[in-house]
Amino acid sequence: MDSWDAGRRARMRLEERYRAADLSAPTWNDVLDTMLAHRSVRTYRDAPLQRGVLETIVAAAQSAPSSSNLQAWSVIAVRDRDRKARLSRLAAGQRHVAQAPVLLVFVADLSRVRTVSAASGRAAEGLDYIESFIIAVADAAFAAQNALTAAESLGLGGCYIGAMRNDAQAVARELDLPDDAFAVFGMTLGYPDAGVAAQVKPRLPQQLVLHHEQYRRAAADDFTAYDDRLRGFRSDQQMAEIDWTDQAARRLADKKALTGRESLRPFLLRRGFGLQ
Ligand SMILES: Cc1cc2nc3c(=O)[nH]c(=O)nc-3n(C[C@H](O)[C@H](O)[C@H](O)COP(=O)(O)O)c2cc1C
Repeated sequence: MDSWDAGRRARMRLEERYRAADLSAPTWNDVLDTMLAHRSVRTYRDAPLQRGVLETIVAAAQSAPSSSNLQAWSVIAVRDRDRKARLSRLAAGQRHVAQAPVLLVFVADLSRVRTVSAASGRAAEGLDYIESFIIAVADAAFAAQNALTAAESLGLGGCYIGAMRNDAQAVARELDLPDDAFAVFGMTLGYPDAGVAAQVKPRLPQQLVLHHEQYRRAAADDFTAYDDRLRGFRSDQQMAEIDWTDQAARRLADKKALTGRESLRPFLLRRGFGLQ
């Protein structure tokens, strides 16, 4: 990218990301360009990943930082049509889970630590605490996001599948997960169907997210501009115009809105995660 092109790209990407033209970047590069162009892709061409691409993506995932280098995560690549179909049913019937050429399932995985602790004769008491759970979930998330960015840089698209937690027990059974391991989310991956036009989804104005020195509390009407921008995005996408504030409030309004995930705690305790 020459400097003129870089400046033009930066302006375009920032404007798309916020649906506002109040930010500028002093410098730009291909990494930033890939990151700011992110959008979740839910429709794929019927084409498998090229040979070696999955392994390249997982190498990028394994390059993510890891708490104390415990590397407390694993990933399961599911390509089998019948298994994808079963996992799709467990994930609220989401079509793209069955349709994507590959579904990656990211696992918070403390089973290796359990194994090496037992072999070294140590008690692994730390696994009884919520701290270990956070370590494993965060490790899985950092790895997954590296994987997604790597995939996008190679022209693939993907979408996280949090609904993989709707029936965590059945997913664990389908993937034959050991104790101390839990499927945090899935990620569909494939080559985007070029026939499906999509824009990037705008994010909250940066001043609501970036705090300087100390936290600045937001008032309810600080979100009005974002509601407008997101409504504009949804209208462009021919989607129902819903306010972000309404959507966010509804997402966590009651237990029913958790779509099965309200029983994660007893499930995790049964699987060997202590959550003290
Ligand atoms: C942990 C996590 C779980 C998600 N679960 C789902 C899901 O089950 N189904 C889906 O279609 N999108 C899912 N998404 C995608 C989000 O809806 C999407 O990232 C968000 O609306 C922002 O849109 P964008 O990714 O296109 O920028 C999930 C995203 C994350 C980070």
